[in-house]
Amino acid sequence: MKNQFLIVSTIVIASFALVSMTVKDFEIQDPWEVPAKYEKMQNPHVGDADADQVGRMLYKEHCASCHGTKGEGDGKKADTVDTEVPDFTDGTLSEQSDGSLYYKTFIGRDDMPGFQEKISDEKQQWLIVNYIRTLGS
Ligand code: HEC
Repeated sequence: MKNQFLIVSTIVIASFALVSMTVKDFEIQDPWEVPAKYEKMQNPHVGDADADQVGRMLYKEHCASCHGTKGEGDGKKADTVDTEVPDFTDGTLSEQSDGSLYYKTFIGRDDMPGFQEKISDEKQQWLIVNYIRTLGS
């Protein structure tokens, strides 16, 4: 009798553990808070004609591996990170300020590497922001 109780409770506890692990896998990422200082940052290169050329080149070199050539979040490395790589073509970028996109790209968090050191030229940084915006349209 005692043994049976032990077996049943072990099964119950194990199933709970399994279910909570599975649920965690599908959890949506926490909202990404952007500090006000960044959110309000002005982009000095809005509409810069270089965005298409230079921005695209930098994107291909540094971002497409995860975010995909078209920004759909389907790059080769996307499956190797735990966090879902967001789709830039779903319209969510247009709801965010240039400063927010700058913050997320160059400060980063968890699986999104901060690119401040790899891409330190300020103009290049903003051209990437300009370029990823064009992927949504
Ligand atoms: C190693 C894979 C990887 C690389 C390389 C990478 N990213 Fe990301 N990126 C991610 C992941 C994963 C997230 C989601 C992070 C989160 O929500 O915590 C993300 C999120 C973002 C976001 C936020 C999108 C949103 O909807 O809020 C932006 C903007 C972004 N990346 C831009 C870039 C740019 C620009 C580059 C290249 C300079 C780049 N990323 C390179 C994996 C990557």
